[in-house]
Parts: sequence; C-alpha cells; structure tokens
Amino acid sequence: MTAKEIRQAYLKFFESKQHHIVPSAPIVVKNDPTLMFTNAGMNQFKDLFLGEAAIKYSRITDTQRCLRVSGKHNDLEEVGIDTYHHTMFEMLGNWSFGDYFKKEAIAWSWELLTEVYNIPEDQLYVSIFEGDSKEGLERDTEAFDLWKQYVPEDRIILGNKKDNFWEMGDTGPCGPCSEIHVDCRPLNERNEISGKSLVNADHPQVIEIWNNVFMQFNRLKDGSLQPLPARHVDTGMGFERLVRVLQKKSSNYDTDVFQPLIEFIAQHSDIKYGAEEKTDIAMRVMADHIRAISFVIADGQLPSNNKAGYVIRRILRRAVRYAYTFLNLKDPFMHRLVPVLADQFKDVFQDLSLQQDFVQKVVLEEEVSFLRTLSTGIQRFESYTRKQGEHLMLENAIEPEKGFADAWVYSILKDQMIISGEFAFELQDTYGFPIDLTELMAREQKWIVDMEGYSKELLKQKERSRAATAIDTGDWVLVNPNLEVEFVGYDDFECETQIIKYRKVTAKGKEQYQFVLSKTPFYAESGGQVGDTGRLEDHSRLFFVEINDTKKENGVIVHYTDTLPEDLDGQFWAVIDEYKRLLSQDNHTATHLLHAALKKVLGNHVNQKGSLVNPDYLRFDFSHFEKISEIDLSRIEHIVNKKVRENIPLKEQRYVPYDQAISSGVTALFGEKYGDLVRIITFDDHYSKELCGGTHVQATGQIGYFKIISESGVAAGVRRIEAITADKAEDFMLSQNKELAELRMLLKGSKNLKVAVSILIEENSKLKKEAEKALVEHSSNLKHEIAQHKRTINGINVIARHVDLPNADAVKNLAFAVKDLVDDLLLVFTTIIDDKPGITVMISEHLVKERGLNASNIVQELAKDIQGGGGGQPFYATAGGKNKDGLKTLLEKVEKLV
Ligand code: ALA
Repeated sequence: MTAKEIRQAYLKFFESKQHHIVPSAPIVVKNDPTLMFTNAGMNQFKDLFLGEAAIKYSRITDTQRCLRVSGKHNDLEEVGIDTYHHTMFEMLGNWSFGDYFKKEAIAWSWELLTEVYNIPEDQLYVSIFEGDSKEGLERDTEAFDLWKQYVPEDRIILGNKKDNFWEMGDTGPCGPCSEIHVDCRPLNERNEISGKSLVNADHPQVIEIWNNVFMQFNRLKDGSLQPLPARHVDTGMGFERLVRVLQKKSSNYDTDVFQPLIEFIAQHSDIKYGAEEKTDIAMRVMADHIRAISFVIADGQLPSNNKAGYVIRRILRRAVRYAYTFLNLKDPFMHRLVPVLADQFKDVFQDLSLQQDFVQKVVLEEEVSFLRTLSTGIQRFESYTRKQGEHLMLENAIEPEKGFADAWVYSILKDQMIISGEFAFELQDTYGFPIDLTELMAREQKWIVDMEGYSKELLKQKERSRAATAIDTGDWVLVNPNLEVEFVGYDDFECETQIIKYRKVTAKGKEQYQFVLSKTPFYAESGGQVGDTGRLEDHSRLFFVEINDTKKENGVIVHYTDTLPEDLDGQFWAVIDEYKRLLSQDNHTATHLLHAALKKVLGNHVNQKGSLVNPDYLRFDFSHFEKISEIDLSRIEHIVNKKVRENIPLKEQRYVPYDQAISSGVTALFGEKYGDLVRIITFDDHYSKELCGGTHVQATGQIGYFKIISESGVAAGVRRIEAITADKAEDFMLSQNKELAELRMLLKGSKNLKVAVSILIEENSKLKKEAEKALVEHSSNLKHEIAQHKRTINGINVIARHVDLPNADAVKNLAFAVKDLVDDLLLVFTTIIDDKPGITVMISEHLVKERGLNASNIVQELAKDIQGGGGGQPFYATAGGKNKDGLKTLLEKVEKLV
C-alpha cells in the first residue's frame, strides 16, 4: 500500500464504524494558553472531553498534523538521529465522545491492524496500565480482560504511569491508555530474543504505533485528578510509523512519505543517502524539519524571536546547520524543499500548496539571515573548544602532542569538558545559535553545555529587559456548573445572565479575575477583532463591576475583571460598551472591504496573514512581495470608499455547512480552525464574502470614510496596511485640514502651497550656499591674522584665543588651516556655539612625537574651567562645557601650562 492508501484505509475503516471524518485542525494553536502547537489529535476536542462544548458527532476520525517540539511532549533531540521520531507527524485518530468505550476501541484496533492492514498477529504486543497507588488509580483489568480475547496473555505487558497513563499537558484531560507495539525484526532475531523484552526499550525495530487512551479525568493545576463528566476514547496512531511497518522498511525515512525529500536532498548535495551515518542523519533532519517549518508557516506562524515563532526559528536553524556542516550546502537550500513537500501533500493538506511561494519566501529569508552569522558562530565555537581543551590538557599535565581526541585523554578530561553558560548565551545572543543547536554541536564533540549557567544568563537578560511577566492562573471555581454558555452578541448588546464559574489570576503581583457567563453579549477576541469591554451589573442595575476584556479559551468565552461581584450566585445584566463595539465593527467591515480591494488591485495571491481590529484603527497583514505603489494605494482606498458609499447591506448567514460555503466561493483563511457549520459575512455577493465570526456594520455606509494611514513591510513576503474609519477618519482629515490652513497662514495666504514651499526651499539652499562661501572667505582671512599672533615659549609656538564661528566644522577647518601655516604649534581656540562654551586644541605632530604633548590631556585639563569634559587624539581634541565665564580664565592659563 502507498502512504496515501494507508491513510485512506484508516479513515474508511472508521467511517464504516459510523465515524464522521473531520479535517485536521491547524498545527498552530491559537486559543489555548496551555499549548503552542497541536501535539495530539485530541487537542481540537479538548472542550468536548471536559464537557465544555456540545457534542455534535459522538464518533469522529481524522488525520491530524502534529508537532512535538516543546512542552510535555518533546521529541526534538531524537529526530534524525534515530529513524522513527519526528517533529511534525500525522496522527491518525478515532474518538468516542461519551459513546463507545474500551470494548469497541480494542476490538476495532485489533481488526484494523490484523485484518485490514494484515500485520501478523504474533508480531504485535499490547500494554495496559498497571495502576498507581500514589494517584489512587487501579490496574486497568478491564482492558486486560478485553485484550485476552485477541492476544495471548504473555504478550500483554503491564505499563507504569509514564508509559500507560496519557496526559495532554501539565493540566487537562487524561486517562489510562493501552499501547500497541510492533516487532519488525526478522524472524530469526524474533526467535532468538523475545520482542516482549524490547517493548518501550528504545529498540529501533520494536516500536509503538498506536495508543488507545481511555479518557476519564481532568488533571487540575494543584495536581489532583477530577473525574470527567463522561468517559471517552481518544486514540492516536503514528502514521509515518504505520507506513513503515506496512511497507516493510526498517526506517520511516525509507517510505514514500520521506523518500521524495531525501532523494531531492541527495541529488542536490551530490551525496548518496546511505553513504555515511553523518550525512544520513543530516538528510533525515532536513527532510523532517522542512515539514514542521512549512506547515507551521502555512498555518500562519512566522519565525520570530519569541514563543511559537522562536520554536520554528530554532528548528529551521538546526536544519540549516546540518545542511551546512555535513552536506556542504553553503547556500540557502531548505526553501527548495518546499515545492517537493507541497506537491506531496496537495491532496491531504492543501493549504501548503496554495501558499507555496509565500512559504518558500519566508524560509529563504530566514536561511539567508542565519547563514550570515552561521560560519562565524561555528568558528567561535570551534576555537572555544580548542582553546578550552588545550587549557584543560595543560592543567592536567597532559602533553599537548597526545591530541585531544585521544580516548585516554578523553577519559581523564570528560567531566571538565564543559561549555560555559556565558559562552552558550553569547552564541545565542550574537550569532543566533539556539541553545539546542549549541548543545547538539557540543555533543558531537563530546562536550556538555553548562545549562544551569546558560539559564542564569538568560534569566539575567530577561530581568534586564523586564520581559518576565509571570502569570499564575488558578483553577476554576464552579458557581452554576449546570448552565450552558450562549453567545447573543450578534443580536444584542445586553442580556440577563448568571456566572457559571470564575478563577483568580495573578499577573505582575496584581490580582485579577476571570469568569464565564451563562449568556453573554460580549464578543471574545478572535479573528483579529478585540474583545468587548463593558460591565456586569447586579439585578438592581445599581451596582456593577467593569469587564475590561473578553477572550476565548477552547471555545469558552472568558470575561476579565479586576473585582468580582459580591453575590456570585445572583442574577446579573451583562452590558457591553456599545460605542466601542460600533467603532470596532466599522473597522472590521472595512477590513473585509480592504481584503477584497487588495485582491482586485494586487492579485489573488493576497492572503490574510494577520489582522487587528479595535475601536481606534485596523491593521491588516497579507502576503505580497513588494511595496505597494502610491497609485495602487489610492486605487485600493478608492474602491473601499466606493463600496462604503454604495451603502451595501450586511448579509449574514449563520450555520452554513462548511463544504457548501467553500463551494460558494467564500474567502477562508489559512491556519484557521472552522467547524462543520460556519458563518458567512457578505457585502455584495460579487465583492466580499468571507468566513467570519466577527461583528459587522448593518450597512457599509456606517463606515463613513476609509483612510489608509500607512503601508509597510513586516516580514519576508508580508506587507501591512493600517487604516482608520468613521469618527477617527473624520478627525484625521480635520486635523490635516487645520495643518494646511496654518501653513497657508504662515505662507501669507498663498493659494498654491506647493509652489510657495518650493520657492522657499530653493531660496533656502541658495542662501545656505552663500553663507558657506562667506564663511570660507572669512576663515581664510582669519587664519592669516591668527597665525601672526603666535607667541613662542620654550620652542613652542602658542596661540590661544577666542574665535567667533557658527559651527564645529568651521572651527575644525580653521584649526587645520592654521596648523598648515605655523610649525611647532600648540593652538587653543575657545568658542561659543549654540550658546554653549567649547574648546579646541590642536598640536603639531612633531611636538606630539618629540615632546610628548597630548591634546586630549590638555583639553581635559582646560575643560575643568567650563565645567565640562571631552577628549580626542594626541594632536587634536575638543571639549564642551556649561560655564561660559570660564572661557577667559582658561585662555589665560594656556601659556602658564606650556
Ligand atoms: N492522545 C493520545 C496520544 O497522543 C492518543 O498518544
């Protein structure tokens, strides 16, 4: 079977068991503060497990793109070194939400593996949870008994909490699990050593392929386990491993999932895959990493210096470094793999092929910038280990001839071969080497990095930039747990409601609260539109608390406040700040009109890459490769304003089936997770039609006027437009007009401002030239006069006087001109420029060399009189100060000093 057939067979199998097939959620997680990337198929269903969302389908199946490079599940270290861990991988999964449980899950996984995929039964091992007394969890005898029907008891393994109790993260849904392992070794090896002893022992041929989790608990922040409202099934099968087993390969990279990438790399580096371990690892790292990088960028996360953006930057840099060092690819190369990958996935995850040029451009730009510092960084690293190594040999009285690579030398020095935290930090700060790259390079040379020292440096830096903003989020406290959440904000600005739950959050030492309401008109920040603000009034409507923000967490609307109402269990009125909401709506609709205008003027490659909509302005980021010309900008602005004047009414369609919406030609965003039923916002069927959850004007005329205030570049291939509407646009135009009127007044009522200002500029430059000429003439006369007034003391020609010149350049030129006229000169000028006293000292080179005079020292001494300081070179130095009165006494001092 090809990889494609294997994937298809999985989905078809579960479809035949009444599972609904859903698309993969984006790999970048946007609305769960506990997670940056999707790390398991179940992530997108977290709220279903927790009972926080209504269940539409009780059985679901899909293939989910996942990334395990940060947080609880992190496989980065193994990737490429071994042949079966990946950064990005596909997880095939089937779920039951309160529907079937262990019996069906186990029966179906057995049926699929042995009857559809035809994996020989005697090569399969299963594990069940042995229990954990500390957690008060019992052995999963139910699963054991169920498995016994299919697998002989001696191939059922008891597993501990680490292997057989699956948790999404530090908090969240979890439960005992049952893993399925395959022994892929040849028959003779299998006969010799039982596969059972090799399960979970990091054997490259005895690997886990499938995990069946029986979700029963929610892990709370305090570490305790809270039973879930219902029991669920969550399974995950590593697609790349399954393909490798079915295609009978000994490495995931030998399957048709990775071969196109490996072949491309081999061909272009002119090195055969399989030639040498080092180059093989490099190829595997590259083939693996490009997948993570490309899918993450396609889902809207650009490389950057923090959070998810930094994770992806680190992965890319790791790959670039392997390509550079081991395959001798010194020019940007990774971006060339993007089309190969996009082609492979065009039928599975189409978003990549649709944005191929964009993703390629972002990767290229990252490569170029890292390659600029990579070789210098590597040299610094190598010279560091060499010098430290020599130093260690010296300290341990080992003869240098012995060579540092010598095994005996290593055995003596190994505990001291430590890369200091400071140096690791310097590599990161100056050369952009992520710490895991430094660790990797260290490991290759058998050094270790002082991670504690590194962390200290990092902390120091964080403290320096005050970036550390610790937020401590408490557990939810339930008030009215049985109520359902309902959003009414598309239609109403206020409603009666009750509090479902609340929690305390401490940020920067300040206590705040968050609460969830049963019914709310508050729009939660999403799709770029900021969350509503407003108040929660008690039932008498006399007392209230302010709501200062609203955000979504796994689909639940969370209100932010500084104080909680007294009677939490009471009835309330939730009321939004209507004026702010209306302004945000103007900007949100304008964003849609702008998006459509951009596509019309610049082309269909324009895709939204980010947006911000608040009451003050709108910001829209989109893929486009060059600066937009003034003409195009005014065209875009004109189209939007035309649509505003057409006063197009809002057409809002709620609950449209996703497929139907897409085939109607609606604009959907990449990297966005849409449900089965979507909301379409249309302004003119032939103009703008977008999938959107935001709030909008009733008709475009409400926007009043749309004005672009800036256009700029934000990242490779991404441009940004900022614009204002309605009241803000009016204020802007009024203030521009006022400024023009003031200018006109200044220019004595001139009608044609452009002509008047051009004349002024011209006159000004003419006058400047004349003034410069006059100054040159003046200085030339002055230099002769000054040269005549020298006094010779001890063979030194001393000149000390005040000069009246308009700027420092003129003083400097004069000093040099006098030096050309007088030998053995010590010259001191005092000046007052822009009302500030200054000193210039000039000494002939001859005096500097022969008599050790130093202008810098002299100027510093003299500057004391004007309460100032300065410096320069031995033959020329200057100083500035505060006290003008000191200039006279200072001049008198000069001769004495000489
Ligand atoms: N959520 C389970 C896992 O990721 C299936 O292993």
